[in-house]
Amino acid sequence: MKIKVKGNVDWVGKIDWDLRKFHGNEYSTHRGSTYNSYLIREEKNVLVDTVWNPHAKEFVENLRREIDLDKIDFIIANHAESDHSGGLPELMSHIPETPIYCTANGVKSLKGHYHKDWNFRTVKTGDKLDLGNGKALVFVEMKMLHWPDSMASYLTGDNILFSNDAFGQHYATEYMFNDLVDQAELFAECIKYYANILTLFSSFAAKKIDEILALKLPIDIIAPSHGIIWRDKPAQIVEKYIAWAQNYQENQITILYDTMWGGTKIMAENIALGIKREDSAVNIKLFNISKTDKNDIISEIFKSRLILVGSPTIGQGITSASAGILEEIEGLKFKNKKAAAFGCYGWSGESVAKLSGLLQKSGFELINEGIKCLWNPDEDSVEKCIAFGAEIGRG
Ligand code: FEO
Repeated sequence: MKIKVKGNVDWVGKIDWDLRKFHGNEYSTHRGSTYNSYLIREEKNVLVDTVWNPHAKEFVENLRREIDLDKIDFIIANHAESDHSGGLPELMSHIPETPIYCTANGVKSLKGHYHKDWNFRTVKTGDKLDLGNGKALVFVEMKMLHWPDSMASYLTGDNILFSNDAFGQHYATEYMFNDLVDQAELFAECIKYYANILTLFSSFAAKKIDEILALKLPIDIIAPSHGIIWRDKPAQIVEKYIAWAQNYQENQITILYDTMWGGTKIMAENIALGIKREDSAVNIKLFNISKTDKNDIISEIFKSRLILVGSPTIGQGITSASAGILEEIEGLKFKNKKAAAFGCYGWSGESVAKLSGLLQKSGFELINEGIKCLWNPDEDSVEKCIAFGAEIGRG
């Protein structure tokens, strides 16, 4: 299958409706994904990126229906992670001498993945590859967006930015263009992608976007490597990235809790009640950590100005689900967010101190020492939780 993008550029990738987990088990893909590969046919024929390994044979068979493989003059590997380079071993078995353009880090990464000495040509920001017909590809290194080897390629004449992972989303759709799909679904997947994959690299994202904008290149289309192609007002996703890269937050408080016998859940609900009593404008959301997808939780934390994390004390620590989400939080290095902890206990009650310590270590500003409750909350404890929330609500 091919989809015309513009001029002599066709999408020749794979729509993966079946995908529910990505990066092993690390990223949930409720709406599947796509691996976008693009075929440019000017005087020179160029393939930009491939697909994930399990789809390699199908990809090459489809590509063959489009073009005699020997007529592919250049391959561009914008990024070496196997969701984009996974088709290379199969493709290169047919055309082993075809040059592969990538960054110096891309060579290391592709060799590391496939242990092959393909015909690599390294490029740097500003390098140009002439395609004939007055068109060229200009390369822009995208270091740490989100890997050291990441790169974007810009097609002059058609003004298409092949941005690879940047501006992408895990979103399977047969429409393939941003103006045709459900906008709420699309932007939910965009923010989830940014929150879970790019938060850690926000300072690089902000600088790189400034650098690209300073080039004053006309951009008619942004063609990422996952999800839809931005042909309608492509600047809108760039503007979102600019906002998201600047320690983004909305007026949201997220209350995350785990619970063994329901006590910490009662605490969560009454803290929420207290906040709401004092601040009716704030968007308060509650999630049971054990029952909620971890990547969806990360998206909600990303949108929050404050998070409250609750766990009962189990043994001398916190529940495994709480520990898991805190490990995710620590790795992403959120900035400009506040936090506090809460939890029930039956004897020694270490959970609140432990949660507070982990939140602080992850860069959250603790607003207080937290609140803990012996046994299931009685009337007095419920009132204390409401008061705890009310204080937060008053700011
Ligand atoms: Fe879509 Fe970093 O791979």
